[in-house]
Amino acid sequence: MAKIILTGDRPTGRLHLGHYVGSLRRRVELQNSGEFDKIFIMIADAQALTDNFDNPGKIRDNIIEVALDYLSAGLDPEKVNIFIQSEVTELTELTFYYMNLVTLSRLERNPTVKTEIQLRNFETSIPVGFLNYPISQASDITAFKATTVPVGEDQLPMIEQAREIVRKFNSTYGEVLVEPDALLPNNSVCSRLPGTDGKAKMSKSLGNCIYLSDTSEEVSKKVMSMFTDPNHLKVSDPGSLEGNTVFTYLDAFCKDEHFEKYCPDYKNLQEMKDHYQRGGLGDVKVKRLLINVLEDELAPIRARRAEYEKDIKGVYDILKKGTEAAQKEAAQTLSEVKAAMKINYFDDPSLLEAWEKKFNK
Ligand code: TRP
Repeated sequence: MAKIILTGDRPTGRLHLGHYVGSLRRRVELQNSGEFDKIFIMIADAQALTDNFDNPGKIRDNIIEVALDYLSAGLDPEKVNIFIQSEVTELTELTFYYMNLVTLSRLERNPTVKTEIQLRNFETSIPVGFLNYPISQASDITAFKATTVPVGEDQLPMIEQAREIVRKFNSTYGEVLVEPDALLPNNSVCSRLPGTDGKAKMSKSLGNCIYLSDTSEEVSKKVMSMFTDPNHLKVSDPGSLEGNTVFTYLDAFCKDEHFEKYCPDYKNLQEMKDHYQRGGLGDVKVKRLLINVLEDELAPIRARRAEYEKDIKGVYDILKKGTEAAQKEAAQTLSEVKAAMKINYFDDPSLLEAWEKKFNK
């Protein structure tokens, strides 16, 4: 069976380091592994509208930002199709049919949706479109017969919902759809990179993000003000690693080579951590290392972004071409779905025959 990837992001803001370690960096590796027959990366504007319906300008503005983030992170339009969700109208049609296969109580039980409802104060009045987005996400995945969906842990309930829909569809109408597997980050630090303030998650609304498109000055400033160990007041004090954001980021980004290059007092991160815990190592030195490590990762991304920014028409064309390819693929699945559901009236010659037979006994 073909190995196919589909994944995506809501275009509600520029992408940050949380997106990068949680998923984007992995996608580039998967793209370059040569193991996959097709890769689709979706800018989920329709899903973003399910909780931003009153702010369409924001979604529109961020489509190009997310596309630039993708390309600058190293996604290669020769190897992946980057596309815009709402332009592939087949996805909406699939959603309409899948809605028959899911109960209201099943949607209300989805833990990710539950948390999001609370965050958005939707408790007393949930927009139907919002509650329905796990079904729409199942359409995104199944329209491409994706086998592999690289996502963060918070998306597991969405993949489970998609798998249930696939099983229900196939057992009701015949084997058409493919059950997808989630592919989680291989390192738990990367599953949930905290914000620079130490809060559980990087999030635009909390103002605790480092963006892929930040300048080196912005990154330095953000690292220098990062949350560490509040009880580590003097350099000589023993420091704690628990919840120490600077070390968490080093866990996500640092390699042994970085020590040779930027901090030769230590052979590796473990030695540095040991010293920090014993006392005698100041936060500023650790932060300087992190700035260098991040700079190594972000400088090539920034340089690619600058190139793409000079050719926005080129990026627009990449989106258009990717969307056309995605649309073709989704149309093929939709026609199989409609045939299985017996609603393919005008492209099934046997239908007319059967109708004629019925009346010319
Ligand atoms: N829900 C995902 C997020 O918030 C975005 C998304 C939409 C997605 N459709 C998808 C991810 C399909 C994987 C597969 O990040």
